[in-house]
This record gives sequence, structure tokens and C-alpha cells, in this order.
Amino acid sequence: MYRLLYRSLAVRKLDEAELHGIVNACERNNNDRLITGLLSYDGTHFFQMLEGKRENVTSIMHRIESDDRHRNIRVLGQRPVSERAYLSWGFRWDRGQSLAELEDAMRFDGVNPW
Ligand SMILES: Cc1cc2nc3c(=O)[nH]c(=O)nc-3n(C[C@H](O)[C@H](O)[C@H](O)COP(=O)(O)O)c2cc1C
Repeated sequence: MYRLLYRSLAVRKLDEAELHGIVNACERNNNDRLITGLLSYDGTHFFQMLEGKRENVTSIMHRIESDDRHRNIRVLGQRPVSERAYLSWGFRWDRGQSLAELEDAMRFDGVNPW
């Protein structure tokens, strides 16, 4: 089991329809690949945690990296884990709460997410 957390900057303020498209793709593809985690968006930045088989996390991350709806993608942490922090995949509209939760799940040691 492998876990990866990144932060990125949306190229513009995405509207509901665009977000819906992303969330639908996540539900489809991540469920198929048994990838769990959380995507959060606050109108400016995305934070996303992906967890699952390492090769699945890596390949979905490559696809996400080439998405031109965001840029400045910075991997904040990645490591093997013994179990999932999230049992399913979800989306949340916020920043502070999600980030605190994601950092906790990642067990950062004083890494500045910005
Ligand atoms: C911030 C962000 C996060 C994304 N996360 C995922 C993801 O976890 N899984 C996924 O399949 N697509 C994700 N996408 C969308 C992909 O870049 C891509 O558009 C999508 O996988 C295409 O799916 P489809 O070929 O099934 O239409 C994300 C896009 C953005 C902008």
C-alpha cells in the first residue's frame, strides 16, 4: 500500500460543472483501481491524497499531472503505508480542515505545505 499527497494551483476558479467532471472521473477511475483518498478544493488550491497499490497511485498521478486545469503541482509526501487512512474516495470543498486532516494522515514532521 502506498500513499501520496500533493498540492496544486487551479489555473482559474473552476465552476461547479468542471468540478463535477473531475469528481466523476475520480469516482470512475479511482474506484476501478481501488484508489482511496481525498480531493479538496478551496477555489484556489487543490490538495489530494491518493492511496492504493503503488503502481496504481503512480499511474493515476501521471495522468493528473498532465491535466491543464491545474499547475505548480508539488508532491508534499509519499511513502509506503501498512493501511489506508481513507476507506473510500471523496471530494470536499474547503482547505483548512482537509489540509489538517491530510497532514495528520501523512504524519508530516514540520513540512511546510506551501
Ligand atoms: C486536481 C485534479 C485532481 C484529479 N484527480 C483525479 C483522480 O484522482 N482520478 C482520476 O481518474 N482523475 C483525476 N483527475 C482528472 C484527470 O486529470 C483526467 O481528466 C481524468 O482521469 C480523465 O478520465 P477519463 O479518461 O475517464 O475521462 C483530476 C484532475 C484534477 C485537475
